[in-house]
Amino acid sequence: EKKMMIAIDGPASAGKSTVAKIVAKDLGYVYCDTGAMYRALTYQALQQKVDPTDEPSLVKLLKEIDISFEPSDDTQKVFVNQKEVTEAIRQPDVTNLVSAVAAHSEVRKELVKRQKEIAGQGGVVMDGRDIGTAVLPNAEVKIFLVASVEERAERRHKENQQKGIETSLETLKKEIADRDYKDSHRSASPLTQAKDAVLVDTTSLDIPQVVQKIKEVIQEKT
Ligand code: C5P
Repeated sequence: EKKMMIAIDGPASAGKSTVAKIVAKDLGYVYCDTGAMYRALTYQALQQKVDPTDEPSLVKLLKEIDISFEPSDDTQKVFVNQKEVTEAIRQPDVTNLVSAVAAHSEVRKELVKRQKEIAGQGGVVMDGRDIGTAVLPNAEVKIFLVASVEERAERRHKENQQKGIETSLETLKKEIADRDYKDSHRSASPLTQAKDAVLVDTTSLDIPQVVQKIKEVIQEKT
């Protein structure tokens, strides 16, 4: 049986990585979180005090870093040059700067190259913003996952509370909307639904229901 490429794109906090991970596990495919790669570079830029608007310096920094993943139970560990950054790349300082870093076309060129290598000949579920449009335009399955800003902010709010992080719902809503705006309005591969992607609205669906919908799309393609 041919191993497929499955691309899952969509706005911030739509639940892409949660469902992508489950689908990958069930199919025995590799899961690749491309957002984590942009976050890892942003984290390293903060560490090394590289200006997020300085494209040549970011590219130089990126060429010096190895970004790798290691599967673990329910999450996936992320490493920059062998140092674990799984938690660090989810902190607000990184989240609030990552869209600026990801807007640079030369940064994207280098990361897209690495993402294509990870995808190899298939057997991959990759999530991000431009997977169906730019990274894997020939992916057999393309999903565009959306949910209302309210619902996404509420999910993030609950998750944060469980982790003991206090952020107001209003702040979360604003941060999510800001990031979506920046990601959709940049000139280099902006967030947009690929023509051949299937739209899945996860508002008021739970995780198993979203996974089920995606599996139905996969079935139709096989
Ligand atoms: O998916 P996640 O929210 O972790 O992505 C963080 C940021 O990385 C996005 O807001 C976007 O700016 C950038 N990104 C991107 N292209 C991708 C994945 C993420 O520009 N394929």
